[in-house]
Amino acid sequence: MKRNLIITGGAGFIGSHVVRLFVNKYPEYRILNLDKLTYAGNLANLKDVEDRPNYTFVKGDICDYESVRDLVRENRIDGIIHLAAESHVDRSIKDPFTFARTNVLGTLSLLQAAKDFWQPLGYRVDGVPCRFYHISTDEVYGALELTRPEGEAPYGDDFFTEETKYNPHSPYSAAKASSDHFVRAFHDTYGMPTIVTNCSNNYGPYQFPEKLIPLFVNNIRNRKPLPVYGKGENVRDWLYVEDHARAIDLIFHEGKVAETYNIGGFNEWKNIDIVRTLIRVTDRLLGRAEGEDDDLITFVTDRAGHDLRYAIDSTKLSRELGWKPSLQFEEGIEKTVRWYLENQEWLDQVTSGDYQKYYEQMYRNR
Ligand SMILES: NC(=O)c1ccc[n+]([C@@H]2O[C@H](COP(=O)([O-])OP(=O)(O)OC[C@H]3O[C@@H](n4cnc5c(N)ncnc54)[C@H](O)[C@@H]3O)[C@@H](O)[C@H]2O)c1
Repeated sequence: MKRNLIITGGAGFIGSHVVRLFVNKYPEYRILNLDKLTYAGNLANLKDVEDRPNYTFVKGDICDYESVRDLVRENRIDGIIHLAAESHVDRSIKDPFTFARTNVLGTLSLLQAAKDFWQPLGYRVDGVPCRFYHISTDEVYGALELTRPEGEAPYGDDFFTEETKYNPHSPYSAAKASSDHFVRAFHDTYGMPTIVTNCSNNYGPYQFPEKLIPLFVNNIRNRKPLPVYGKGENVRDWLYVEDHARAIDLIFHEGKVAETYNIGGFNEWKNIDIVRTLIRVTDRLLGRAEGEDDDLITFVTDRAGHDLRYAIDSTKLSRELGWKPSLQFEEGIEKTVRWYLENQEWLDQVTSGDYQKYYEQMYRNR
């Protein structure tokens, strides 16, 4: 089947993996990557697919309703996979307005643009059933208790399921929660064929180095301090980014309309244990002695409203659609650290902001 898709936020971390997977796997689809190229968007993430005939980059803001409406109509779009967002919790604490604008109003503008084109067509474009697939986070569910802080994971007795009530604590998760509600409201009010997924923390190549794993690998390499919030006791559930992209592909094609699916790998780690693992793997790959960089760890004042534990129950996704993560954590971490060490040029460009100047120039010249 031929399809015309918009993937939003395709120049970001997860979006670039989703774009790559779709461009490679579905040569018969037309894939438009709609991205504003904020500080987090980097077209160098997609260098290997940028010249493919089934791929087009469109620089644009999801909040610009009229442009998005025209893009949907002119390209007879039948599917939207929506990843564009402001995604960093620390930034949301400093600037909540930007998060409300992009994550809430941006999602609303996309929904409205899709509805304008799709509703009069009965949610089928040229015979293809439409889909609005919204990518969200487990952080909307709030925080879980650390009832078993010692020993091995899981560190608590309960998990987030698709029935867990929303209870966001940061401006980031509040904005994502609000966008999830809008998506479901468009299904209930206008019959829009929507799907929402809530995923745990992702790790892997092409993540902006303000986030823990790329930041710390880079700092270890350069022997800079590793600032750990509080005592590093907070627990997160980690998933390799390509496994998330595979789940998105499966759910977009086979997920049931109006459903929610949790995505996670039952892979809980305390932040401090992640940091120790990163030091061990990075030092080994750099040929340094074990323990050489342990004293780079510095404990800093905890983040305001820092959620203690996230843990996702993704049983529904594996039971109904047969998805499971392909990588064990040790293997995924090794692959990830190796990638950042081998792609120092990418890291240097991103940390210096040079990638933005380069692509601005390139797009001015086109
Ligand atoms: N990173 C995670 O661990 C994680 C986990 C679960 C869910 N998510 C969700 O997945 C999505 C992608 O996350 P990520 O980590 O790849 O984010 P990211 O910050 O790396 O990328 C976001 C992308 O969106 C683009 N963007 C931002 N504002 C835009 C706008 N107004 N119009 C068009 N494009 C805009 C940016 O340029 C960037 O390319 C987000 O919706 C996030 O909430 C992320």
